[in-house]
Amino acid sequence: MKPIQVGLLGIGTVGSGTFNVLQRNQEEIRRRAGRGIQITMVADLDVARARAVVGEGVTVVGDAREVIANPDIDIVIELIGGYGIAKALVMEAISAGKHVVTANKALLAVHGTEIFAAASARGVIVAFEAAVAGGIPIIKALREGLSANHIEWIAGIINGTTNFILSEMRDKGLDFEVVLKEAQRLGYAEADPTFDIEGVDAAHKATIMSAIAFGIPVQFHKAYVEGITRLSATDIRYAEQLGYRIKLLGITKRAPRGIELRVHPSLVPAKRLLANVEGAMNAVVVHGDAVGTTLYYGKGAGSEPTASAVIADLVDVTRLHTADPHHRVPHLAFQPDALSDLPV
Ligand code: HSE
Repeated sequence: MKPIQVGLLGIGTVGSGTFNVLQRNQEEIRRRAGRGIQITMVADLDVARARAVVGEGVTVVGDAREVIANPDIDIVIELIGGYGIAKALVMEAISAGKHVVTANKALLAVHGTEIFAAASARGVIVAFEAAVAGGIPIIKALREGLSANHIEWIAGIINGTTNFILSEMRDKGLDFEVVLKEAQRLGYAEADPTFDIEGVDAAHKATIMSAIAFGIPVQFHKAYVEGITRLSATDIRYAEQLGYRIKLLGITKRAPRGIELRVHPSLVPAKRLLANVEGAMNAVVVHGDAVGTTLYYGKGAGSEPTASAVIADLVDVTRLHTADPHHRVPHLAFQPDALSDLPV
């Protein structure tokens, strides 16, 4: 069977990681997917940069709509980010009958309900493992591994940039601004790092996990969001003296009248596993009634860790696309149990 053809929109840090890992591990990936997976077309505003990553043999264009219009492309990977053009392109790809793999947490946290409904109506998949906690397969854990459970709560360090900043400030006594610049240089921070340091990025991710865990629509606008910009080196030092570490946590849990959804700096006892998650690492703790407490730990940002999640989705989508349509497992996209506007 000929490889499934993939179009990539945006070949920056994660896009180049995705291209390189797919090349490097192509044989193993082909076996797992049951079919080869090939990026045959790339769109990026910087055509020269894209060409330098993919070499010859891959079509490189400046206009993403050319990728969507190509009838040979079955899957579109959206790695542009943000709510603007990315939303228009994802919606266009869906209406053109393409499956979509995206790392765009902002887009899904704000417009997910509309996007998933459109995908469902068109019979295509929108897969988004890379949108939450980078390389940690937390979406698959919530949707598949823990599907037997009544989930009670989730708490996690889900923004690598802020965890890196808090760790470096504590360990090396470095200034906030210096560490932020380093996080940007390492490719952890968002294009607009305000989203990281004000807790918005973590809230996007917590919103997505909350929707999946509790079967509610994505409701980012109802999240309580507080970042780390008001923390000082003194706060960090005092916390340490009292036996705590300050961590930016994303928390979502069942409450008597609905679901809590919040992101804020939290005092975590220094002996707890979460307190010892350092640098740009992420960790998510999920409590389910059957399984108890489970912990997922790994790299939450960066080129190849995030590419690992993008490619896992490519493999899933390839399997489902290639299977007999009458025997497909239900839609991979998130589908809320209830479309009511639950109190959050
Ligand atoms: N800016 C994000 C972070 C990237 O620092 O975690 C991964 O979503």
